[in-house]
Amino acid sequence: MCIVLARKYRPKNLSEIVGQPVVVRILENAIRMNRIPHVFLLSGPMGVGKTSTARVIAKSLNCEKGPTVHPCETCKSCKEINEGKSVDVIEIDGASNRKVEEARKIIESMKYPPLFSPYKIYIVDEVHMLTLEAFNALLKTIEEPPQYVKFIFATTNMQKIPPTVLSRCMTLDFKKIPEPVIKNHILKICEKEGITIQEEAAMLISSLCEGSLRNAEMLLDRTISYCEGNISLKDVENSLYVLKEEDVQAFLDATINGNIEEVERWLEKIETNSVDIFYFFNMLLRRIEIYIKEKTYPVEQMIGVMDVFYKAFMDMRNGIEGEVVLRTAAYKACAVKNLVKIEDFLEETKTKSEKIERKGMQSKMESFPVVNYILEEFNGKIVGRL
Ligand SMILES: Nc1ncnc2c1ncn2[C@@H]1O[C@H](COP(=O)(O)OP(=O)(O)O)[C@@H](O)[C@H]1O
Ligand SMILES: [Mg+2]
Ligand SMILES: [Zn+2]
Repeated sequence: MCIVLARKYRPKNLSEIVGQPVVVRILENAIRMNRIPHVFLLSGPMGVGKTSTARVIAKSLNCEKGPTVHPCETCKSCKEINEGKSVDVIEIDGASNRKVEEARKIIESMKYPPLFSPYKIYIVDEVHMLTLEAFNALLKTIEEPPQYVKFIFATTNMQKIPPTVLSRCMTLDFKKIPEPVIKNHILKICEKEGITIQEEAAMLISSLCEGSLRNAEMLLDRTISYCEGNISLKDVENSLYVLKEEDVQAFLDATINGNIEEVERWLEKIETNSVDIFYFFNMLLRRIEIYIKEKTYPVEQMIGVMDVFYKAFMDMRNGIEGEVVLRTAAYKACAVKNLVKIEDFLEETKTKSEKIERKGMQSKMESFPVVNYILEEFNGKIVGRL
């Protein structure tokens, strides 16, 4: 049976955690100086190393040679933590153990010292899911737990943690992992797996994984199953159902230029080829960022287009069907070109109506010069925001 890459390449010690230099440095120093807080809070997006780091901390503390930055990997404790079997390291999923009763059980179990190791370590994942009552029950304990207890909380949503709890934790902020770091990681994994991969292929994967190494490894898994042993850019495009970079660019150009017929052709192509809309949005937004940086089109227009596609992407992530969202967004983006800035509109309207008033123009709509002006000058254009 092949183990999925994300599991096979779970970092075993601090030096294997990539792309989180600040976190690693703080932890190395804390462990070396043996200044380890009662409660760690690891916060950050998904798939960037929080759970892995929590286990690495547990190993560093409970290794026979610990506390150590280089856990031995051979003692009972190291081995059991690697296999997720250590009785002294208790992993709790906050999302399915939210209630105060469960918090009380944790507190109760803390009375008993660790069986085989220096510390009893509670790793609570998705800790923001605990109810307020559960947090309150834990407050006193996390402030002054027994000497042998350590907590490691992990969360993707720090805002939801009560400030009273936050103020008692040492917080470690995990960041999205930069694309070049992810690309190198992919190249290294392929080397270890005896797989050849084109650099452009690794680059495309790293651009699609939203800063998450877990995502990157999952995409790589999929590509490897697709093509066995030799990965080209084309393989990634085909296995992940993504359009070529040039095609994404052509679609974007067509929307920016308001070329509805061409946009329509692309949308059809996207639908008939079952292009993955999620990745399509990713590639599109990246291309827009490049256009803004390089000033390929007027920046204000680009920001308008970005706004439309970004909101659409969010709608999709919130569960609205991708193809529908993309289609509507594409039409809206086509209209951005004809947008008139509201300030310009008001300014022009003002001067024009002043002129009209001065001339005392005879018009059926004399008493509504502004309305008249709108009809005359802005016929067919959209004013304001989409
Ligand atoms: N910073 C990282 N360094 C090395 N591998 C990582 C990193 N982040 C994620 N991974 C890979 O992704 C997998 C899942 O990571 P995990 O620590 O569970 O992420 P999180 O808890 O932040 O969602 C790991 O087993 C590992 O293969
Ligand atoms: Mg996790
Ligand atoms: Zn050990």
